[in-house]
Amino acid sequence: MVEFEEYSGMQILSQQQPQPTILTPVSDHACFVTIELLSECFENLQIQWECMDACLNLLKLMNSSPSLLLSSGESSFNNDEQDCGVLMSIGFGRQFLESILRNISNTESMNNQTNHHSEHSSPINFIKQYLKSSDFTEYPKDLKGKFGGFPNTGGDIFLHIKSNNMDGAFRCSMQVLNHASIAPHVKRVQDETFGFLHRKNMKKGLGRDLSGFEDGTENPKELEEKIEAALNEHGDSFLLAQKWVHNLKFFNSLPLKERENDIGRTMDESIELEDKSPNSHVARVSLVEEDGHEIEVIRQSMTFGTSSQHGLFFLSFANSTLTFIHQLESMVGVGKFATPEGHNDHIMRFSTNVLGSFYYVPSMKSLTMLIETMSPLVLKRHRTLLSREENIYRLSKL
Ligand code: HEM
Repeated sequence: MVEFEEYSGMQILSQQQPQPTILTPVSDHACFVTIELLSECFENLQIQWECMDACLNLLKLMNSSPSLLLSSGESSFNNDEQDCGVLMSIGFGRQFLESILRNISNTESMNNQTNHHSEHSSPINFIKQYLKSSDFTEYPKDLKGKFGGFPNTGGDIFLHIKSNNMDGAFRCSMQVLNHASIAPHVKRVQDETFGFLHRKNMKKGLGRDLSGFEDGTENPKELEEKIEAALNEHGDSFLLAQKWVHNLKFFNSLPLKERENDIGRTMDESIELEDKSPNSHVARVSLVEEDGHEIEVIRQSMTFGTSSQHGLFFLSFANSTLTFIHQLESMVGVGKFATPEGHNDHIMRFSTNVLGSFYYVPSMKSLTMLIETMSPLVLKRHRTLLSREENIYRLSKL
């Protein structure tokens, strides 16, 4: 059994190629970019195809030889320069995906083309399934508790960039945002946050949140556990991105015991408290199913900010957004896992959520197949438009 699970996990890695920031350890630096696209991107399959194709090429380049890409347009890359160790993943918002599927089916019906996408030959069917099922749900609306809620601030494309230094994260973000097939379609960069690993423990490779508590202690460690938590059978993943602003003045004014009770772990050693309060963060977000199975996610959060405004950019990957919904609901004391109901996560006493959205993070294989499905439709439409223009030109010459 174990052997089979190992085999299928490895198979997903080699055949589907999940995006690279999901399973790799947290880096010293990161950049989180939330991009909103212009309305034309939702209506025009050609533009969508251009954007997706640019994303695929950037992912391939950035994750294979970032030094080449990071040096393009600047003076040539110098071997003496520090290796930035850049890794990038790209996620797509629900509305953007829905519009791509809609435009594919509209174009197919315009061309009187029948849909031959079989379960195995095209990602269209399983993306449709994600959108219909609980795999890629809408972001929760108006979910609020005693200490605040989770505003749905949207976003069409999300970049998760990891790097050894801020230089790499900065240049990678610039390269994507200046790309000729992406830049003209950007309505606005809603948020661009540079994160860093605060008080890194060199042995564990983990940092501490600004509250002083270690972050990432309970992240799955073994590769198989990580795969099970964050990927589905297609190597696809789903991402929750949330920006939290801390009130440290308030939190640090509390006695240490109270702060530990709020988190549910000790400050120094990050040992889980045996008599945790049901309002502690760990009690609220540890989801255990009726059969005792613990639902896991992979967190890749980072500290961000300046001395006047700072907090945690919370980033988490799971094989379904339903897991995030359960966690968020439980934080405000409602839903299936909030038993008994009414307990509010005390982390929200000192931190305010200011930005949040879900994204689909396709494997490289799913993204490639999606673009391959779009390509002939875009080309056919392009040819029809060209011949229409030629006819108009000919008529005008008569
Ligand atoms: C201000 C925002 C947040 C801060 C400062 C924070 C901090 C922490 C800390 C210190 C821990 C304990 C150590 C560890 O296992 O990593 C933890 C655990 C955890 N957090 Fe958060 N967190 C925040 C938001 C969230 C949100 C929004 C979610 C989910 C939607 C979440 C999910 C989790 C999970 C699943 C664990 C592991 C629980 C366990 O199994 O023991 N956190 N967090």
